[in-house]
Amino acid sequence: MSLVSTDRSVRALLKQGLDQLRAASVASFTLAAELLLLHVTGSDRTWLYSHPEEILPEPTAEAYFALIAQRSSGVPTQHLTGKQEFWGQEFQVTPEVLIPRPETEHLIEVTLDRLAVREIRAGRQPRLNGENVTLIDIGTGSGCIAITLAKELPRATVYATDISQAALEVARSNAARLGVAGRIQFLESDLFNRVSFAPGVPALFDVVISNPPYVSLREADSLPVEVRAHEPHSALFGGEEGYELYGTLIPQAASHLRPGGLLVLELGYNSLAAVEPLLDRTDWVNVSVTKDLAGIPRVIAAERVAHREHR
Ligand SMILES: C[S@@+](CC[C@H](N)C(=O)[O-])C[C@H]1O[C@@H](n2cnc3c(N)ncnc32)[C@H](O)[C@@H]1O
Repeated sequence: MSLVSTDRSVRALLKQGLDQLRAASVASFTLAAELLLLHVTGSDRTWLYSHPEEILPEPTAEAYFALIAQRSSGVPTQHLTGKQEFWGQEFQVTPEVLIPRPETEHLIEVTLDRLAVREIRAGRQPRLNGENVTLIDIGTGSGCIAITLAKELPRATVYATDISQAALEVARSNAARLGVAGRIQFLESDLFNRVSFAPGVPALFDVVISNPPYVSLREADSLPVEVRAHEPHSALFGGEEGYELYGTLIPQAASHLRPGGLLVLELGYNSLAAVEPLLDRTDWVNVSVTKDLAGIPRVIAAERVAHREHR
């Protein structure tokens, strides 16, 4: 039996697609069906809803139902369309990188807010163009954080690292597509281990930002199949407990931040209790915790104490 309905109108295809996704218990099935139909037609949502009677060619309908079948089997929509929006920009995603999550946008908000507050405290107008700001994104993945900050802070100097060469290629490609390739230096490094060896990289930064892998290996089986079977495990799992990487990253960040420099970290839903004590008040001041829209403590930020010498 052909998968393609006899009625190939936009409305009928959308309805059949979302019915199939709902039957397969796919979350956000209406949005997924819409995105897949938009992808195969190369159109936008306005077109979709203003042309409900338009009959699509059979090959287009076939391509759409092939994607619906893949989505029903657990492949993330973003791997089928190859993209995900983050902070209003479209990022290319592949199975080599974590799909950017909406809650990671809080890292951007907190970073921009804290930089503005720092300027005000110093008695300056908050210009927020990134002048004299050197920042580094540890574990850049798709590059969503580094690229967004490079665009928001056009005068900042931006570095981005990842342990995965494949992820760095995706990040570089995103930087090129979004017009900031010349503004970001990408480095392959396990946390900060190789950062200081790269030519031209400063010893100290003004901002260290990271969304590290923080899921506990014990929770692997409870993750949705889209995540467990399709996203890179090196981007998901921080170790048996989940929060292990923070224990190395935070002291390394203390050594690589200028006095008064800013550390901004994303947290897992249950990481706060383990991570906050790592921000020892002899090294860190002005610690703040920001909740996401679901009320989960999602971002922890702190400033390196001003009087402390580089270790
Ligand atoms: C949770 S993902 C975050 C990706 C991206 N920054 C984002 O917010 O969508 C974590 C990233 O850290 C990288 N990573 C894992 N362990 C690392 C390590 N020891 N050093 C550097 N990067 C690491 C992974 O390859 C992955 O790209």
